Amino acid sequence: MKHLTILSGIICLITLAGLVPPTYWKPPADSRIPAGTLGKQIRYGRDLVAHTAKYLGPNGSVKHLSNGMNCQNCHLEAGTKILGNNYSAVFSTYPRFRERSGATETVIKRISDCFERSLGGKAPDSASREMQAMVAYMRWLGTDVAKGQKPEGVGLVKVAYLDRVADSTKGRQLYVAKCQVCHGVKGEGMKVAGASEYIYPPMWGPHSYNDGAGLYRLSSFAGYVKNNMPFGASYASPQLTDEESWDVAAFINSMPRPHKDQSKDWPNVASKPIDFPTGPYADSFPERQHKFGPFQPIADARKKQ
Ligand code: HEC
Ligand code: HEC
Repeated sequence: MKHLTILSGIICLITLAGLVPPTYWKPPADSRIPAGTLGKQIRYGRDLVAHTAKYLGPNGSVKHLSNGMNCQNCHLEAGTKILGNNYSAVFSTYPRFRERSGATETVIKRISDCFERSLGGKAPDSASREMQAMVAYMRWLGTDVAKGQKPEGVGLVKVAYLDRVADSTKGRQLYVAKCQVCHGVKGEGMKVAGASEYIYPPMWGPHSYNDGAGLYRLSSFAGYVKNNMPFGASYASPQLTDEESWDVAAFINSMPRPHKDQSKDWPNVASKPIDFPTGPYADSFPERQHKFGPFQPIADARKKQ
């Protein structure tokens, strides 16, 4: 009895200290894909996420709309990986108001955003077979998630701020040592000649995500690579330190990439994320600090407002 009390005391302490891993979201099993037309649509949606370029890239079989990347390049394992930018909360949280557009966005609008920014192109028409299939797939992925809920492991991890400027020189060294073998000396990625899809997607240059994309913000990039790169890393076995994640983000987001006109974004300037790299801002910190940090002073100043 006494031992049991001590044991439960210890378990209690461990839980309080946050050492017990949270219960992460599990995507529904394939056996739960319904039969018939809806099931076919869901499977097509999943294939479009995993192999976007095959259908909609520069050599796509349906239309030529995007830069050659796949949604899955950033939404890993077809948008099901824990802390790999998964889609678990798409259906439970959309439509919702977003500060970037200053409007309430539907799932279709949100998907279109990634086509126009991360995939540097155009979205398929909202009524198209392709758009409808991706929406059906995301709805199915959210089967077990109640309206308004965000399961554990959604999105990307928030990497703790450094107390210094993110260092692109160190980032370049890390890139050469740990990333270049797959993503290329010139960040160009790797494709078998004539293939529609990359084996390794590009990091910068004309075929990479544009400067309006989520990954162009250092915190998103750092959060993505921390638990997912080099390929094979996961939240359970990350391979980069926090510092490495920020530094490599600073390097890659200093390299050239396509530009997107964002003059209509962030109608409420005060709502821009702390690490949004282009002004105007509601505070007096310079653009450089908003891009490379240190971010804590900006966060502190914002709290005081
Ligand atoms: C270059 C990386 C990249 C690619 C490629 C990409 N995305 Fe995204 N996507 C992101 C990031 C980063 C976010 C989170 C951005 C944020 O909210 O700050 C995101 C967010 C989303 C969301 C909202 C998720 C949520 O829970 O709020 C949807 C839906 C989405 N993407 C769909 C797609 C689809 C569909 C494609 C392919 C057509 C795609 N994305 C391609 C990086 C990418
Ligand atoms: C063993 C090969 C390999 C290595 C090494 C590697 N990656 Fe990747 N990376 C991939 C693959 C493959 C994908 C696409 C994943 C998919 O589609 O399932 C990817 C995707 C990405 C993406 C999102 C897509 C894009 O192109 O924007 C980023 C960012 C990224 N890697 C950064 C890095 C960084 C930073 C490093 C070094 C710390 C690194 N990777 C090391 C293979 C690799």
